[in-house]
Amino acid sequence: MDISAILHKLSPYLREEVYYIVDDALGIDLQPQFAIHATEENKSLQTVTRIWDWLFSLHATRCALIVCIGGGVVTDLGGFAASTYRRGVDYINVPTTLLSMVDAATGGKTGINYGGLKNAIGVIRQPLDTIILPDWLDTLPSEQLISGFGEVIKTALLDKDLWKQGLGIEEIGLRIEDVLAVKRRIVEQDPTEQDIRKALNLGHTVGHAVEGLSIHQTQTSPLQRGLGGVLHGYAVMYGLVAELYLSVVKLGLDREILRQVSHLMVTHFGRPNCGCSDYDELIALMQDDKKNEQVGQINFTLLKAVGEPVINCTATEAEIKEALDYLFTL
Ligand code: GLY
Repeated sequence: MDISAILHKLSPYLREEVYYIVDDALGIDLQPQFAIHATEENKSLQTVTRIWDWLFSLHATRCALIVCIGGGVVTDLGGFAASTYRRGVDYINVPTTLLSMVDAATGGKTGINYGGLKNAIGVIRQPLDTIILPDWLDTLPSEQLISGFGEVIKTALLDKDLWKQGLGIEEIGLRIEDVLAVKRRIVEQDPTEQDIRKALNLGHTVGHAVEGLSIHQTQTSPLQRGLGGVLHGYAVMYGLVAELYLSVVKLGLDREILRQVSHLMVTHFGRPNCGCSDYDELIALMQDDKKNEQVGQINFTLLKAVGEPVINCTATEAEIKEALDYLFTL
C-alpha cells in the first residue's frame, strides 16, 4: 500500500502532534511510529503500558492524534491506549484487514485480552474517523479474507436488504460500505451497547468461547495463528451456526436460514477443531463472557428472522449442548 494514499485520506486531520501505531508486518515507515507484532498474545496490558511509556517519552500532549494502522489487534489496542493516555486523546483507525474494515475499527470498541478472556478490559470511545482503503484487501491471505467474511455474514443477517443482495465473497471489496452502513446505523442508535447494539453480538457468545478455547489449545490446524487461536471471523461463523440453531429452536427462525449459513460455513470456513470433549470448557467460557448481565446466566443475541434480532436471550445448558451437537456434527 502506498503511504501517500494513507496520508491523503488523513490530511484533513493532520496536526502538529501525530503518532502512528502500526502493525509491524505492513512494512510502513511513518514517524514517530510504535510497531506492534499483532498477535492476540500481544493484545495485552503490557503492550498498552509500552505504548503509554512511548507517548510519555515523546512528551505527547492531550492535543495529540494517534493513528492506528492495522487489523483488529492494532486498532483495539491503539484505540485503548489513546482513550486512556492523559484521559484520552483523539485517534483514527486505518483498518488493513477485511475483519477490521467491516467491524473492529468502527463503533469505538477498544480494549485488550485479560486473564485468558478476549477483550475483557476496554472502553467504548469513538475514533475521529475510520479510513477505509479497499486496496488493502488485495494484500490479504485468503484465510484473512474469509475471516472478515464471517462478520460480513453476521451483519447481513441483521439487515433484510443486505441479506437479499447475496453473499458473494469475491465481490466483497465493493460491498464494504454497505456492510458498514448497517453497523453504523446500529451503533448510532446505541453507541454504548445498552440495547440494540447487542444485536451485533450475534454469533459472538459461542464464537468467543470457541476462540478462547483455541487460544489455550495446541496448534494443530492450518487455520490457527499466533497463540494458536482460531481467527476471529472463523470463530464468529461457528458461533453463528450454533446460535442460529438456538434461534430455530427457541424463536422459530426459518430453518432454511440455518441451512444456508451452515452451507456457507462448511464451504468456506471448514469445521471447528473442537468437539464434544470440550463442552464443559466452552460453557465455562460462555459463563465468563463479558456480555452476561447476571451471574451464571449466559446471554445471547438470537434471530427471529433475518433483520429481526432479539437481544438478551438465555438458554439452558441442555439447549446450548444441543446447539453445539448440531455444529460439531455438520
Ligand atoms: N463488534 C460488535 C460491535 O462493535 O458492537
